[in-house]
Amino acid sequence: MSLIKKINEIVKNTFINNDYEVNDEIVKISDRPDLSQFQCNEAFNLAKKYKKNPRMIAEEIVNELKQNDMFKEISVDGPGFINISLKEDYIATYIEENFSNIDLKKYNSNKKKILVDYGGPNVAKPLHVGHLRPAIIGEGLKRLAIELGNDVIGDVHLGDWGRQMGMIISEIKYRYPDLVYFDNNYTGEYPAESPVTVDDLNEIYPTATAKAKEDEERMEEAREATSILQNDYKEGHKGYYELWKKLVEISVEDLKKSYEKLDVHFELWRGESDCHKSIPKMIEELEKNNLLKDSDGAKIIEVNEETDSTEIPPVIVKTKSDSVGYQATELATIYERMEEFNPDEIWYVVDGRQELHFRQVFRAAYKSGIVKEDTLLYHAGFGTMNGKDGKPFKTRDGGVMRLSELLELTEKAALAKINSEIENKEEIAAIIADGAIKYADAISNRTTDYVFDVDKFTDNQGKTGPYVLYSAVRINSLLRKAQENNIKIGKLINTNTLDEKLLMLQIIRLPDIIMDAYKRKSLSEIVNYLFDLNSAYNNFYNNCRILSEKNIEKQESWMKLSYIVGEINKKLLYIMAIRIPNKM
Ligand code: ARG
Repeated sequence: MSLIKKINEIVKNTFINNDYEVNDEIVKISDRPDLSQFQCNEAFNLAKKYKKNPRMIAEEIVNELKQNDMFKEISVDGPGFINISLKEDYIATYIEENFSNIDLKKYNSNKKKILVDYGGPNVAKPLHVGHLRPAIIGEGLKRLAIELGNDVIGDVHLGDWGRQMGMIISEIKYRYPDLVYFDNNYTGEYPAESPVTVDDLNEIYPTATAKAKEDEERMEEAREATSILQNDYKEGHKGYYELWKKLVEISVEDLKKSYEKLDVHFELWRGESDCHKSIPKMIEELEKNNLLKDSDGAKIIEVNEETDSTEIPPVIVKTKSDSVGYQATELATIYERMEEFNPDEIWYVVDGRQELHFRQVFRAAYKSGIVKEDTLLYHAGFGTMNGKDGKPFKTRDGGVMRLSELLELTEKAALAKINSEIENKEEIAAIIADGAIKYADAISNRTTDYVFDVDKFTDNQGKTGPYVLYSAVRINSLLRKAQENNIKIGKLINTNTLDEKLLMLQIIRLPDIIMDAYKRKSLSEIVNYLFDLNSAYNNFYNNCRILSEKNIEKQESWMKLSYIVGEINKKLLYIMAIRIPNKM
C-alpha cells in the first residue's frame, strides 16, 4: 500500500469508528506544504449530512488520531481542515525503503493475463501520422501493465486480409498478367523475390483504389480476387496466396524498421488473416447456437438490444460474395485468442472512430459465448492528432503525411533548439524529437483530439518532453560528477529544507499515480507526474547546493534523493518508451 493510502486508511477508520460514513479517498497531499504534509477536508462534507459544525467533527477525529505515534502534528485549522504531518524521519525512511529499488509490482494485487492489440498497420500501405497514436499509446500501456507484474502480450494485428489485398492483387495482375502467380497450371517453385517493392506498393494501392471506385468492372475483379485469396487459393489459384505471402513479407520487413525507430516492439506479428483457419469452426459453433441469420445472402449476427437509443447494426460474418471482412476477422481473432491464450483482458488501442465496430463485435463475442462474462474486452479509443485547422494533420500541400515525415520535421525543430556545440547533434535531436512527440501525445486526455504543434512540443520549458529529459540528463551528470569527486550516495535523512520536503512529497505520490494510470488505461497521469516531480527536483537542485555542501551527511542524503528521482525518471520514461540522451 502506498503511504498516502496508508494514512488515508488510518484517518478513514477513525471517522468510521466515530459513526461517520465517509468517502473512500479523504486524505491528500497538502495544498499548503508549508503548514503540513497532508490534509483532510472530509469534515466539511459530513457537516451537512450530520448537521454538525465541521470544526467540531474535525476536532473529534483529531483528538483520537493524536494517540497514533506515526504523527508528529495533527491539528484542526480554520473552520475544519485537518492538517497532518508525520514524525521527522518517517517519510525519509519510507522513501529509502520503497524507492531505492523501484518495484511497482507490489502495488498491483490482482495480476492478470492481458493481450494488447495495438499498432494495427495495413500491409502495402506506409505508416502515416494516423498510425502514431496506436503505436505509442499501445506500447506505453503495455509496458505499464508489464511493470505492474501482469502477464502481457502485444499483437500488431496487421491489416492483411480484407478487400485491400484483393485490390492490390488484381492491380498487379492487370499490370503484369504474365507473372507465374497468375498461371493456374504452374506447378514449379515460386520465385524467392517479390515481383514488386514496398515503394511500388505505396503507389499501387492508391491507384487500385481509385480505379475500382471509378470502374465497376475493376471493383468486381478486386472482389473476386479477395474471394479467391480467402477461399479458393488451394484449388488452382495457389499463386494468389503465394503472391500475397510475398507482399506481406516485404511489408512486414519495412514496418518493423519503422516501429523499431519508435522503440515500439510487438511480441506477436499476427494479422487479420491468421484467424482464417478458425473461421469455419467458429461459424459452425455460431450456427449450432442459432446465432447466424441470413440477410440478403450474407450471414449476420444481430446485436441490437432493446435498451439501445440508436440502432446498432448487425455483425457481418460472411458477405454475399463469401468473403470475410473486418468484423468477421475481428470476431474470429477473439475466438482464436481465447483458445490460444485465454487472456483475462484484451485491450484494443484503436482509433476512437471505430467505437461502433468494437461495440458490435464485443456484443457478438459475449452473446455467442466466445468470450465469458468475466473476460474484459476493452476498446481504449483515442482521438486524432490534428493540424491547426482542426483536421487530421496533413502535409503542406494537403496530402497524407507519412510518419517518417512527421519525425523528420520534429527532429529539425529539436535540432534548432539544442546546444550547437554538442557532439552527435543529429542523433540527440532524433532522441529528443521522439520523446517530445510521445510526451505531448500523452499529455492530453487519450480520448480527445489534439493539435500537433512542433514548437510547443519541442520547447525546453513547460510540460514538455525536452523539459523532463533535460532534468533527467542533469541528474545523470550530477551522479557522474559526484562519483568523480568521491561524493557518496548516502542514507536519506530529513534535513528540514522546504524544497527537500516538497520533493519528498512528490516522490511518495508515485504508486498512486501508477495505479491510477493503470486503472484508467491512460498515460497522461504519468507525464503530468513527471513534470511535477522534475519541477520539484529543479527547485530543490537550485536551492540546495549539493556539490558544495559541507555537511557530509546532508550532502550524501541529497545525493540519495537525486539518485531516487533519477531512478523514477528512468522507470517512467521507460514506460513511455522515451529514451534519455547522454547529453542535451
Ligand atoms: N488495420 C486497421 C485500420 O487500419 C486497424 C486495426 C486495429 N485493430 C483491431 N483489432 N481492429 O483501421
